[in-house]
Amino acid sequence: NKELLILGIETSCDETAVAIVKNGKEILANVVSSQIESHKRFGGVVPEIASRHHVEQITYVLEQAMEQAAVSWDEISAIAVTEGPGLVGALLVGVNAAKALAFAKHKPLIGVHHIAGHIYANRLQQEFQFPLLALIVSGGHTELVIMKAHGEYELIGETRDDAAGEAYDKVARMLDLPYPGGPGIDRLAGLGEETIEFPRAWLEEGSYDFSFSGLKSSVTNTIHNAKQRGETLKPEDIAASFQASVVDVLTTKTVRAAKHYNVKQVIVAGGVAANKGLRSSLQQEFANLKIPLQIPPLYLCTDNAAMIAAAGAIAFAQGKRSTLDLNARASMPL
Ligand code: KG4
Ligand code: ZN
Repeated sequence: NKELLILGIETSCDETAVAIVKNGKEILANVVSSQIESHKRFGGVVPEIASRHHVEQITYVLEQAMEQAAVSWDEISAIAVTEGPGLVGALLVGVNAAKALAFAKHKPLIGVHHIAGHIYANRLQQEFQFPLLALIVSGGHTELVIMKAHGEYELIGETRDDAAGEAYDKVARMLDLPYPGGPGIDRLAGLGEETIEFPRAWLEEGSYDFSFSGLKSSVTNTIHNAKQRGETLKPEDIAASFQASVVDVLTTKTVRAAKHYNVKQVIVAGGVAANKGLRSSLQQEFANLKIPLQIPPLYLCTDNAAMIAAAGAIAFAQGKRSTLDLNARASMPL
């Protein structure tokens, strides 16, 4: 009757993170070292810089997590690590750290999909009810996933171009807001009004896919054309109008999928889940439909390793193991 203690490692983008989770649900340690400051002046994550930071931080973050959890290596059941998708040089730091630990401490190794991690962040809050629908919205992802059981993922829709968070970051740059752009646009949007009608990319009838590049171009053109006419648009109105388009499409497709698949629960994951407009729109719709909606607190929405440990706990229980030739994968299917 031993407790299951999973040590999780996440280095897929610009956060170096290590966490220890008990029985897939209880966070004993959750350490995240962010590099945002180093990437800010470039307006986005620079892969070379990210890798170097991970190398500098990983040992320190690991030691901090062990200290925070106050557990010994003997008590750790397995090591879970994000194997992909992400920046390959960044992922490699976590994967190699995990392999070294698994080898030196004689622990099983489990490779975890980054998106499975974002989904399982929600299980640190509340047990899943299947079938469930997950909306994953981050800087690299916009996906709708149906789960009928633990560890089983059916991708029903994804972005065909930019991710939702990527669109936020690009529009933020047009408005001279710092990276990452989501929080800045979100705040501005709250001060403005939807005075510009930006397009909504519904795509083909019945499609659960997304597209945000047309919206991004439309924002660029609108700003450019206004300048040519010698007009200035209020940045808060641009932000509010842009956000209204994103939130409308995300909410509408999520609601349609939830009804179609008759789900018992809807969960939201990824950095854009922090968006106030999206949260309130989803909350309102799913309250009306009486389908439980769960949006994790901010520290579990953005990249962290507790979510990787939580997903790893299920994979471990299902007998999934990786070998010491585990490799980092820039892209990989869910
Ligand atoms: O999940 P995450 O931390 O990293 C990955 O991309 O995996 O997500 C980061 C993204 C960034 O694009 C950021 O601009 C966006 O989440 N974001 C937001 C908000 N907070 C963060 N987007 C919209 N509104 C927000 N409040
Ligand atoms: Zn992420």
